Amino acid sequence: MFYSWRWYYALAGLVAFTDSVLAIGQASCVAFKSSASTFSIVSNGKGTPILLSSDDWPGVQRAAIDFASDIQKVTGVKPTLSNVTADKLPKLSSAIIVGTLGKSSLIQQVVLHANLSVSALEGQWESFIAKEVKNPLPGLSSAYVIIGADKRGSIFAMYDHSEQFGVSPWYWWADVPTTTNSQLFVTSEGCAHGSPSVKYRGLFLNDEQPSLQNWAMEKFTNGTGAALTGSPFNHFFYANVFELLLRLKANYFWPAQWSSAFYVDDTMNGFLADFYGIVMGTSHEEPMARSIPVEWTLFGVGPWDYSENADFIYQFWVNSTERVKNFETLFTLGMRGDGDLPLSQDGSIQLLETIIANQTTILETVINGTNVEDIPQMWCLYKEVEGYYDNGLRAPDYVTLLWTDDNWGNIRRFPLIDERNRTGGAGVYYHYDYVGDPRDYKWITSSQIEKTHEQLSLAIARQADRIWILNVGDLKPYELGIEFFLTYGWNASVWNPNNVNTFVTSWAQREFDMSPADALLVSHIIANVTRWNNRRKPELLNSTTYSLTNYREAETVLANWQATSDLSTSLYNSLSSDKKAAFFELVHHPVQASFTVQNMWIASGFSALRASQAMLSANGYADQVEDLFAQDYEFEQQYHQLLDGKWDHMMDQTHVMYYYWQQPQANTMPPVTRVQAKKQALAGPLRMGLEGSLGAWPGDNPNQCAQGYSCPTPALTFDTYLPFGNRYIDIGAGGPSSFKFSLTSNVTWLHFSTAAGTITTDAPEQRVYVSVDWSKVTGVENAAILITGNATGQPSTSQPLLVVANHTVAPSDFRGFVEGDGAVSIEAAHASRNTSVDGITWSELPGYGRTASGITPWPRGGDEKNFTAGSGPSVEYDFYTFNTLGGGGNVTVTTFVAPTLNALGDDRALKIAVSVDSGEPVITQFIADEVPGSVPPDWDGLDGFIANSIVSVVNTLDVAPGAHTLKIWMIEPTVIVEKIVINTGGVLPSYLGPPESIKV
Ligand SMILES: *[C@@H]1O[C@H](CO)[C@@H](O)[C@H](O)[C@H]1NC(C)=O
Repeated sequence: MFYSWRWYYALAGLVAFTDSVLAIGQASCVAFKSSASTFSIVSNGKGTPILLSSDDWPGVQRAAIDFASDIQKVTGVKPTLSNVTADKLPKLSSAIIVGTLGKSSLIQQVVLHANLSVSALEGQWESFIAKEVKNPLPGLSSAYVIIGADKRGSIFAMYDHSEQFGVSPWYWWADVPTTTNSQLFVTSEGCAHGSPSVKYRGLFLNDEQPSLQNWAMEKFTNGTGAALTGSPFNHFFYANVFELLLRLKANYFWPAQWSSAFYVDDTMNGFLADFYGIVMGTSHEEPMARSIPVEWTLFGVGPWDYSENADFIYQFWVNSTERVKNFETLFTLGMRGDGDLPLSQDGSIQLLETIIANQTTILETVINGTNVEDIPQMWCLYKEVEGYYDNGLRAPDYVTLLWTDDNWGNIRRFPLIDERNRTGGAGVYYHYDYVGDPRDYKWITSSQIEKTHEQLSLAIARQADRIWILNVGDLKPYELGIEFFLTYGWNASVWNPNNVNTFVTSWAQREFDMSPADALLVSHIIANVTRWNNRRKPELLNSTTYSLTNYREAETVLANWQATSDLSTSLYNSLSSDKKAAFFELVHHPVQASFTVQNMWIASGFSALRASQAMLSANGYADQVEDLFAQDYEFEQQYHQLLDGKWDHMMDQTHVMYYYWQQPQANTMPPVTRVQAKKQALAGPLRMGLEGSLGAWPGDNPNQCAQGYSCPTPALTFDTYLPFGNRYIDIGAGGPSSFKFSLTSNVTWLHFSTAAGTITTDAPEQRVYVSVDWSKVTGVENAAILITGNATGQPSTSQPLLVVANHTVAPSDFRGFVEGDGAVSIEAAHASRNTSVDGITWSELPGYGRTASGITPWPRGGDEKNFTAGSGPSVEYDFYTFNTLGGGGNVTVTTFVAPTLNALGDDRALKIAVSVDSGEPVITQFIADEVPGSVPPDWDGLDGFIANSIVSVVNTLDVAPGAHTLKIWMIEPTVIVEKIVINTGGVLPSYLGPPESIKV
């Protein structure tokens, strides 16, 4: 197991390795045993004193208090913390010296006395070094010296060590217990970190009602919020937020805004942020460090419209700039209309130019003495503002342009090559939580870190790396995703598509102090939960999202959830009690709660289906829905009651039964349908349903055939390459009578998983699998099955069923995917061949997307190289078919691609080309051109590509039965292909498409 960790770190491109696994990606410098090359933090019950300088930043002084108490949490020994100067140094054998270069006179003395080379640190934003220095000061033989290049360099250095010592950044926010060690050392060579990949890395608390707001009201107020706003987000609350941010090495923050106003709610808030070392911003729609709409509602006079009310709004911004001028602030420029809506369209560009010019004047006037170009400023190109930009509106060069995603994790636009030399650079505003079309998602974790990595690796490659801000809703329960986002921004070079999963294993080891094997299991659980919640957000589920009749889709979804839930339960049960709360919050609750909701929707679907089939089992499904609906609340309660109610209200978010895009006022039970349990169906006690059909027999049913009565005898078709290898028949009770059933056939080559059984009111439904002994079938053969039911006191009933078995055979020398059930379905990563061009290869993004993974042209640097159809990198899939659509010589090829957007601008729309054999590549642009700043029409809606988390690229091609090769050609970068389905006539509706075909 030890070696697998060595391997992970090697993958991460890191050489440093000690026995610590309490770090995620960063170089490790902590040890729990002494050796010749370690320095003692605590050993034999003695803590090494921590020395500071009284002239260092107050924020560094504050973090040092955390640092000392973290050491105490780990070891039980609290080291002393004192301000010293070199000339009045107490007598010590060794010390930990912490301070900021250029600020701490103590550090200056160490640098001089020990002749330390710190040139690599000077002027380096947030970087630090830490190492043992011999004879650092007169009279001191050795010290572990931690030097930050600036305030946050020092703070991050201490928290980086704390994390490796065993104190999780989430110790308070997710109740992660500290792994204790009585002996604590650092390596003499220590740790260092250069400037982070992304300059400003932060979080946005948003749409915080009901959960975060109700929770904070209970925990941080006496029941009433701030006098003017009612907000509970005071400095007691924010102290916890800011400490978390710093422990996660974040530096930037947009405060909660919907019924809050950061600087008004608590006049301590702004001071606190600056004291901690957090750079405050405001959201895209709140210019000049002022909450909109709340502050405008409180203090505004006249309309929020610069064309009508410029004088008042100008002064409104002067006042807010005055308020924050002594705090580290990143100013948001621009303006949106009332209620986060566009400005009125006419003359918006000229007006915004005036607004930005006036905002510049305000900054120059209020913060005089600073060159306005050195004041951090951002202009967010959100929605229509991106359109203004495309139409020529520009901000000054030193202003950072903040590009945005589509609110669903697909970045709309990256800086193009000619936009990359701006001194202000560019950044990205990204969402893990959203209120809006086509539906809110704000209940539970539903973003894949594989996708986050994929999108943000583009941000790195295309230099959108000045600001990364993540909308995190209520903050919980997105802990893992948040940490990945910030960790990636801290050092992007560590992570690549092949090691993203090791982020989760390292995280699980750090949070739960578990074995690498168990951590791997946790990473599977997290991968499953986020994959399944991302491929359709739980808020968007309904009772027929997953097919109830085709491809065993609903059953497979549930079986997978069940297995994941069981795994989570067994891990939860195996953990010591001190770890259970953290595991519940971070892993177990998301699994249980998501599974419950999914299970409830599918049971709701089956209750309606079975009722329409006149089957008694409808009622059992209806009961299940009621139980699961109650259970959903139980899990919420369990969360709220954890640790004596520490997280009361944090799961208040409603999430079942949306009536439109906005959250429902109450969770409402999904519809259930029942049959009269005491009354028998007209056709008798025996009911039969078939795989692939909504119909039921005997008797009438609208889904048997077009007219619904006097339909032909139902049939099951078989071929050699059915993905499941069999078909099922559901036998059910048509009422209160128990009966015995039997299946017989007129051939020897049919096999039944069970040929006889009993249906009772307690077990009102049984599934029988039918398979074919292909050694006994030549070509196409027919058979008949008779299903008979005998209920006491009633005449025997029976239902005939035809079977058509087609013994299809691919040639023995063929290698590839073979048509079965009228389709060839292929996971994109399972290519037969892969051809690189100019060093670019279709490469796998493991874990990405709805089913197995995705493939995308890689590497994809910033150069934006593209190809004409047929000249670029290609992947090939060998397949074999027996049929064409309706015998007409055609098939459809559906390429399922991820819903990434035309982020290279309008003239570089995303495209792929597909071809079969030597046919001409057929080009498809699959994301339509958009009105600037808007999304294409098929993006939206409950069946749009955002809701479905996929775009289907459908091409009809001439493909005669036989062996073929499908080729997918790169045209534009960043296209991600997940799955390919070739329909030869048998494809039925489903959410995920047919399961993968058999490969020979
Ligand atoms: C060090 O000095 C600063 C500035 O005077 C003070 O705020 C802080 O409390 C002192 N720290 C200790 C540990 O005495």
